[in-house]
Amino acid sequence: MDVTKNCISLKLFILFMTAQLNYLMCAPDHYDVDYVINPWMEGNVHKSSRDRAVVQWQKLYGVLKGLVNVELVTPEKGWPDMVFTANAGLVLGDKAVLSRFLHKERQGEEPYFKAWFESKGFTVFELPKDLPFEGAGDALFDRKGGWLWAGYGFRSELDAHPYLAKWLDVEVLSLRLIDNRFYHLDTCFCPLTGGYLLYYPPAFDSYSNRLIEMRVPADKRIVIEEADAVNFACNAVNVDRNVVMNKISDGLKQRITNAGFTVIETPLTEFLKAGGAAKCLTLRTIEVPISSELEASEPSGVEARIVELTGHLLDSGIINRALDLVTDNGGSFQVLEFNLGEQRQSTSLARIRISAPSHDLMETIMGELIEIGAVLQDRDTCAANLEPVLQDGVAPDDFYVSTIYPTEACVDGVWVRCNNQRMDAAIAISADGSANCKLLRDLVVGDRVVVGYDGVRTIRKPEARDTAKKEEFSFMGAGVSSERRVELIVEQIAWELRQIRDRGGKLVVSCGPVVVHTGGAPHLAYLIREGYVQSMLGGNAIAVHDMEQSSMGTSLGVDLKRGISVKGGHRHHLKVINSVRRYGSIHKAVEAGFVKTGVMYECVTNNIPFVLAGSIRDDGPLPDTVMDLLEAQRLYSEQIRGADMILMLSSMLHSIGVGNMTPAGVKMVCVDINPAVVTKLSDRGSVESVGVVTDVGLFLSLLVQQLKKMDSPVAVGV
Ligand code: ARG
Repeated sequence: MDVTKNCISLKLFILFMTAQLNYLMCAPDHYDVDYVINPWMEGNVHKSSRDRAVVQWQKLYGVLKGLVNVELVTPEKGWPDMVFTANAGLVLGDKAVLSRFLHKERQGEEPYFKAWFESKGFTVFELPKDLPFEGAGDALFDRKGGWLWAGYGFRSELDAHPYLAKWLDVEVLSLRLIDNRFYHLDTCFCPLTGGYLLYYPPAFDSYSNRLIEMRVPADKRIVIEEADAVNFACNAVNVDRNVVMNKISDGLKQRITNAGFTVIETPLTEFLKAGGAAKCLTLRTIEVPISSELEASEPSGVEARIVELTGHLLDSGIINRALDLVTDNGGSFQVLEFNLGEQRQSTSLARIRISAPSHDLMETIMGELIEIGAVLQDRDTCAANLEPVLQDGVAPDDFYVSTIYPTEACVDGVWVRCNNQRMDAAIAISADGSANCKLLRDLVVGDRVVVGYDGVRTIRKPEARDTAKKEEFSFMGAGVSSERRVELIVEQIAWELRQIRDRGGKLVVSCGPVVVHTGGAPHLAYLIREGYVQSMLGGNAIAVHDMEQSSMGTSLGVDLKRGISVKGGHRHHLKVINSVRRYGSIHKAVEAGFVKTGVMYECVTNNIPFVLAGSIRDDGPLPDTVMDLLEAQRLYSEQIRGADMILMLSSMLHSIGVGNMTPAGVKMVCVDINPAVVTKLSDRGSVESVGVVTDVGLFLSLLVQQLKKMDSPVAVGV
């Protein structure tokens, strides 16, 4: 802060200490509920009594006159809400930021308030048009720290906050309001003398609550209940140790008193009908920052970036998704440009300015936007920020975390497509300029890794115009599917399996032991034998149970044909493991004739590669089970490369693991009796993922039946 500013502050400080405080009010001559612009006004149009309102207002005026100097602005006919002077603007020192009302019902008040501020010698600041900010209703100074709490979400825009920070030279902490009953900050938040804070936490999102808790120590926070909140207990006028408010509960009164305040209640029920109470009816017109901390303050944490989106933005709902995710994450947006595609097939383009209250939230928003195909557009040159890896296996902080979607990074002015696309990896740029998705453990010193979101874009196929179409085959999350729906989907999958096989494509199956328990093994064996499966992924258990069934007729000791446990059968699977261990491998066990049918038998005899990934609960394990998990992951991803379709059969672990390794563009069919597993994979949210909630044995038998139906007249026996 420079010397002159210091002097002004000092002068104002002295003024503040010596002069009486000034408040602005406006008599309710024209007050009424004429329209509905907040939930309180609903059902109250013309229901308030002017006479009672006048009496209540006079009473408040009387109380305040006993404490401070009250000035009046002339009420204007046709502007019934002008009584709520808190919304005239925001004052600090000799500056006033004039309100820009969101609703046209109140915009006509602006010139009258402006004239009043000017007549009193304030320097008036005006925000750009279409940038709503509703004055001290949405901006409250902390009484100790000197920073400004500013609300957004309903009436004021987040983008107005940086202006406040700049013009008033004050740190602004943005708080997002999420309950429309508390549409202005002063309806649920009231900083009090000595750093106390009276507030209603559920009116704010969790990030804002965290911010409040970081700034205001627990013993200074007076949290109120909903019953008091809806009586506008937070809409209080605080003068030194006095708190003037509408009637509140005895309990709350006691708590405020215990904090060293005198509660002065005055009825304001007529104004509640318009969504206001004591604080709304006043504007403090001498506001001086009273803390030296202000000098060290930062202007405002609000960040802004510009992104571009192209595609069937309206038809596919991408634009809604983009804007929703911005606000759901606590940001706000301004659509700068929207070129709507003119014909059915033409794509649209949107340029959107995104603001977020902090760097962290901006990062979250950008991550999600880039995932749906947005491209950052606010830098002259596109360039990914690269930082070197300083320790093997450790990425720089803020490294860009990859997704399943084809990704490009801009290196030296050129967009380069990433190799080995998968999710949860870092993007490493090699010396020759190529880009690769690398797992953390594979990073080595010398790699350069993309950090932040600049110069990164994901390429999304323009989503189908017709989203209903995709619904037809994907009904994840819709609970257990009806049998007819399962049949329909099986027909579709059978058709695709045929196509893939006949054109020499690649189907990868990942499966759990439930395939065997539910009687699905012979059907899966059929698929392998008939050339539908090109790679098999599983764990120790599926192989053991499958071979137990083929060699001893039981699966985990249960006779599948009769559905009963065999005496001593629980030892069967250990015996199978032991035998295979004696042979040295599954291949050798098959060659020796120990295993004569089943899934593993077909894999071996048809030369289908399989990977069995080990886990902590594995018995044995089989000699083929890869107990080194990193190696197992590597082998899995090798098998997945080039897949056209992955059939995930009843194994949550393997399905999710496989999902993480697989880039977008590979069709995934996930079959599980547990809807949660199926939904988890549907998060991929694309046309490519199909979920079938059903018994896997039943699914496989239907699938094989359907394939046989489509096959040549020569039916192949199972
Ligand atoms: N009816 C007015 C509105 O909706 C009430 C304003 C209350 N003012 C306040 N600072 N909370 O704008």
